Amino acid sequence: MSVILLSGLANPRLAEAVAGQLGVTLGRCDVQRFPDGEIHVAVQEPVRGRDVYLLQPTSPPVQEHLMELLLLADACRRAGAARLTAVMPYFAYARHERRARGREPVGARVVADLIEASGVERVVAVDLHTPALEGFFGIPLEHLSAVPLLAERVRPLLRPDQVIVAPDLGAARLAERYAGLLDLPVAIVHKARLSGAEVKTLRISGQVRGLRPLLVDDMISTGGTIVAAIEALLAAGCRSEVTVATSHALLVGPAAERLRAQPLQRCVATDSVAGAGGHRLPMEVAGLAPLLGEAISRLHADRSLGELLAHG
Ligand code: R5P
Repeated sequence: MSVILLSGLANPRLAEAVAGQLGVTLGRCDVQRFPDGEIHVAVQEPVRGRDVYLLQPTSPPVQEHLMELLLLADACRRAGAARLTAVMPYFAYARHERRARGREPVGARVVADLIEASGVERVVAVDLHTPALEGFFGIPLEHLSAVPLLAERVRPLLRPDQVIVAPDLGAARLAERYAGLLDLPVAIVHKARLSGAEVKTLRISGQVRGLRPLLVDDMISTGGTIVAAIEALLAAGCRSEVTVATSHALLVGPAAERLRAQPLQRCVATDSVAGAGGHRLPMEVAGLAPLLGEAISRLHADRSLGELLAHG
């Protein structure tokens, strides 16, 4: 059974890089928008009897990219793919994993159901907002981590007076993971979310005065969380040389402008989201292609993912 890698329009550059890692040519797919807004896809390679990997982060525009993935999966299933894996370096709706109030949906569960219904038999994801998402799927979910990769990119930037900071309680475990790899202390900023784009900080646990912060988070969306944390750290006496490491640099809406107003020395992120290196920010991009290529190679050969996994 041969392997074939296909991609929607969400991140073709990453898909090309993964194909390079695998030593294959990226399979051709035609993805078009109809005048009424519908999406039409056509897979232009034979997939019958093949081990198919569909690489598509559900980055903004989220609905478009999700729908492309679902249609591509359905096309491959109907065309006789022997195995069908969705490789989703960024998984949208992951923050919507529970109801904050009554009469709300659980968006992550809806997305998981859609993916399963489309014929996908296995999902590969990177640094999910919460590992609990695995439980939303009845199919296997392989949860990879880019944290070791990001930690190695950050290491040369570090100084002896560095402290790792979780910008909210949800990032505390992530901060501990970086701390274990980089052998640094941890502090936590406690936040309250006011709206989708606004947060306020409540207090800081841990020593930060006179130290240089390395803020770590799974994603930067509007920048509200990270900027509120930076402002709280500076007010608490942190040194104004800020480094940020994040798996998913969505940088939507006011994010870039907000970050440009901060004493940001470097922001290290993966390329899970196309265009992560732009935004006139001091970005450094750690490519996911080696990690994803290795994961696909091992899955194709039915080998263990071992240390590539978030809990590995
Ligand atoms: C929240 O729990 C996440 O880990 C991120 O901190 C947050 O969603 C980032 O969003 P924003 O940049 O819009 O504050």
